[in-house]
Amino acid sequence: MKICQTVEEIRAACREARAAGKSIGLVPTMGALHRGHASLIEAAAAENDFVVVSIFVNPTQFAPTEDLSSYPRTLEADCKLAEQIGARAVFAPADKEMYPVGECTWVEVVGSMTKILCGASRPTHFRGVTTVVSKLFNIVQPDRAYFGQKDGQQAQVIRRMTQDLFMPVDIRVMPIVRESDGLALSSRNIYLSVEERQAALALSRSLNKAQALIGQGERGKSKIMQAVREEIAAEKLAVIDYAEIYSFPDLAVFGDNVSGEVFIALAVKIGKTRLIDNIVVACR
Ligand code: PAJ
Repeated sequence: MKICQTVEEIRAACREARAAGKSIGLVPTMGALHRGHASLIEAAAAENDFVVVSIFVNPTQFAPTEDLSSYPRTLEADCKLAEQIGARAVFAPADKEMYPVGECTWVEVVGSMTKILCGASRPTHFRGVTTVVSKLFNIVQPDRAYFGQKDGQQAQVIRRMTQDLFMPVDIRVMPIVRESDGLALSSRNIYLSVEERQAALALSRSLNKAQALIGQGERGKSKIMQAVREEIAAEKLAVIDYAEIYSFPDLAVFGDNVSGEVFIALAVKIGKTRLIDNIVVACR
């Protein structure tokens, strides 16, 4: 497996693969790889001849008050794991390589899709994500790119960007990988103390409750969300940033009653750590 730090190196590796008739799959990550990331790399390896994993803690998607400097960085272990499960190249650039002259060009999806949920709590976040993902797409020129439903809003924002800009890449969105007790895997889970780790189960528990209610025929938006909020509020260490319900995949607002595919998304602070989770439930 090649480890590339410059745009020139990874471009050469991709050029070579393409010239040999290989299809290219890209898995963009910020590293500290876990089984959630691994599921994307495995899916990419199953569907493409040449898999590139990018590892870049993208500064432009963090606000000044967020955890950019403390974000876990485990490049050596990440490269080992990526190689074991089928990556052919890792692209791990320095900040200067991706932003040589500062942030001159933004790629931004505007409109309600980026104003709600994480867009409301982190107003400049998605602009940073779409900008860096555009750069990665232009560098690697993948046939397919892999994202996790864990960041469900991010995946839809990226889909919107590729559709609006006619980017020739197939966006593949993979299911959320969870621990056996329900906690969604996240690079930020390592920030949690034992007590906080236990408290963090309130997120998946509340989503399961909503799913059960919808399964029993409940369609009242406020009833469903009240149940979700109560479940989280019962956990002393948990503070809700948002707990909301939208249609899926367009993330439109429902009236009083929900129907079709329902997206329930949470951001909850457990101590100092902000965790996100979501579920998509079909009303039948
Ligand atoms: P990061 O948080 O490292 O996540 C990389 C990819 O892994 C994302 O598509 C995310 O949704 C997916 N992922 C994370 N946890 C997962 C889980 N438990 N199950 C399934 N997939 C999971 O998301 C980013 O990085 C960045 O915003 C990025 C897209 C790389 C742009 O900088």
